[in-house]
Amino acid sequence: MSDFPQLQGKRILLVIAGGIAAYKSLDLIRRLRERGVAVRCILTEGGAKFITPLSVAALSEDKVYSNQWSLTDESEMGHIRLSREADLVVVAPATANLLAKMSAGIADNLASTALLATDKPVLVAPAMNSMMWAHPATQANLATLERRGVRRVGPGSGELACGETGAGRMAEPMQIVAAIADYFTDSAGPRPLAGRTALVTSGPTLEAIDPVRYIVNRSSGRQGHAIAAALAAGGAQVTLVSGPTAQPDPAGVRIVRVESARDMLAACLAPLPVDIAVCAAAVSDWRVENARDQKLKKTGGQPPTLILTENPDILATLSQPGAQRPHLVIGFAAETENLITNAQAKLRRKGCDWLVANDVAPGTGTFGGDDNTVHLLRGDSVESWPTLTKEAVATRLVAAIAAALPASPTSQSC
Ligand code: C5P
Repeated sequence: MSDFPQLQGKRILLVIAGGIAAYKSLDLIRRLRERGVAVRCILTEGGAKFITPLSVAALSEDKVYSNQWSLTDESEMGHIRLSREADLVVVAPATANLLAKMSAGIADNLASTALLATDKPVLVAPAMNSMMWAHPATQANLATLERRGVRRVGPGSGELACGETGAGRMAEPMQIVAAIADYFTDSAGPRPLAGRTALVTSGPTLEAIDPVRYIVNRSSGRQGHAIAAALAAGGAQVTLVSGPTAQPDPAGVRIVRVESARDMLAACLAPLPVDIAVCAAAVSDWRVENARDQKLKKTGGQPPTLILTENPDILATLSQPGAQRPHLVIGFAAETENLITNAQAKLRRKGCDWLVANDVAPGTGTFGGDDNTVHLLRGDSVESWPTLTKEAVATRLVAAIAAALPASPTSQSC
């Protein structure tokens, strides 16, 4: 669909509240998905009286979030991240009740909590009975929200589901799509990496000992995934090669899932040439040379001896000079001591252009945590950044990448 190209790769958090117009939101999801938009949905308890979570999940091709107190949902995603991992939050239908909660800052269910916690722009598509719409309370709430920058599409006038006629009909799905597209046109800053291709490695690799056991490095994949998302947000075509992680797939990114270092290397070589390579994966340095086909058993005698052999170094391989070498190759160095000295030596040894050094000594909370304290090494220069969220590290790194690349893209395919 090329009618709204600005929608391609965008991420929408769609809040579906309890109104009869919720049925139109199913069509809205379809229209957005057809245009390359990743749609993640919160269905309120009221919304679920009109449409089923199963239809929403099937059309959005994603999990549906409903319950603020779901331990599984909170540990997988969390309402704060849910509200922030989107480019725009759309509330359709926006009921009088939800608009009132938004205006007052009430957070008493997942939808209202996410709306209070979001740092993203919000577009509402009100839908209600015409008297409710005309009520001074609703109009005052709406005025408050609009003053705060909340955008609105509709409502239209006509026959309402309650049998009355007047204003209060939710905008039609394509009108909402157009309003979303308008938002992205208005907000489109420069896309500094448009036309660029990028490869990112993320997460750990697993190296089998036998069919049951494996060797693994500690890595949540959060930093690598954030970098892939930030590169895509900057306009790059991104291939993310990821070891096993619990991270949600970043929107607008081609993801290749692997387990071992050798598989990761093969998956990294396939999309070459690319303009940018960022190796954030925690690749296991060794694999078990004498990995067993059957589960090892305790025999009561000597424990088994594992013979380790070195894995290929993906970063060093990508950094080798040649026609396929990415224009900019960036590695990571997780160190527990002598951070800068070790990182400088690694930068030279691997042959990459830049190295992001981070302290992972016990107690820093870097592994799996929200924040990262990094130093960017470029040649002999060391730039120490303040402690930032991993997403902010990614955004800042991507800005540095965009500033460092030559004016015109060197390759177009990924
Ligand atoms: O040597 P070390 O593992 O500390 O190097 C870290 C950097 O090298 C990271 O960027 C990591 O992704 C990359 N690496 C790799 N292949 C390996 C080992 C590390 O790409 N086999």
